[in-house]
Amino acid sequence: MKLTHYTVSKYALISLQILVLVFVSPLHAKAPQKIQIQTVIDEAYNKFSQQNPGKNADYIPALAKVDSAYFGLALVTPDGKIYTKGDVDQSFSIQSISKVFTLALAMEEKGAQTILDKVGVNATGLAFNSVTAIEQNPARSVNPLVNAGAMATVSLLDGSNDKAKWSTLAAWYDKFANRQLSVLQDVYKSESDTNSHNRAIAELLVSYDRFYGDVDLNLDIYTRQCSVAVTAKDLAIMASVFANNGVHPLTGKRLMSSDNVARVLAVMTTAGLYENSGQWAYQVGLPAKSGVGGGIIAVSPGQFSVAVFSPRLDAAGNSIRAQQAIDYIAEQLDANVF
Ligand code: DON
Repeated sequence: MKLTHYTVSKYALISLQILVLVFVSPLHAKAPQKIQIQTVIDEAYNKFSQQNPGKNADYIPALAKVDSAYFGLALVTPDGKIYTKGDVDQSFSIQSISKVFTLALAMEEKGAQTILDKVGVNATGLAFNSVTAIEQNPARSVNPLVNAGAMATVSLLDGSNDKAKWSTLAAWYDKFANRQLSVLQDVYKSESDTNSHNRAIAELLVSYDRFYGDVDLNLDIYTRQCSVAVTAKDLAIMASVFANNGVHPLTGKRLMSSDNVARVLAVMTTAGLYENSGQWAYQVGLPAKSGVGGGIIAVSPGQFSVAVFSPRLDAAGNSIRAQQAIDYIAEQLDANVF
């Protein structure tokens, strides 16, 4: 057969495609990405492990006793790969990070409109335990990530008694973590003994008809949810459901609707780091949520979830090293959603 110019270039093109498929995609596109994520996690750890500014939360006495040297980073991709560095198996209390998972359950049970109408979704711009935030808003509207809104969200959950409500909530958290979590009893007791400020907030909401059940019962459930023991690895796995549009990357099961995922991420963007949320969005550009136990989760939709644990906090109650590490990781992985 006489090879025409056309057939030569056709064969050349097919060979090139085969070369690309066989060699470039599996070896040169996927493998470096895997190496690159681990490199970035290692770099973030090394960059910030020698400095540890801030101070542990101490208004809950048990938190002051946590070793402030802990530093753990975990990242999960939607295909279920887990990258870790440092103290990623150390348990600590989930604290306010619990609020996003409780919000997710309330949305699934009651619908997104109920949260908008009965709790509110605007950022308060004030501290997480602010009474002023309630007082200055004529509708007494807050958001589900500050203490007032989080307790109101708990009060909306299904369950006629303490046992029923807690078992549903605990099972919900377990589904996200893909394992059975437990409560850190010392933190639960310590916070229960000292939570008169939260009780005052709940009572204030009752006075404005913005609390939807018994104060004792719902305050107790809220306190228990904040005392759930998690590791940085657990949190990255839990947050991976938000990064994967509501489907758990490790089980393939859908836990929540993609509409509700979008709404949870919206509230995380505007209020996840309280009065510092604007600066965080400006600088890092990822929906995130902090807890006074020292954890922070952040979500890059469709790309990854990341969790960092480091107990020392800034004045707003956000872990300083966790913010630094996530800022670095987001920048290196070009993850800013904006
Ligand atoms: O209710 C509280 O004050 C704590 N259980 C949770 C506060 C918290 O984690 C604020 N986050 N940065």
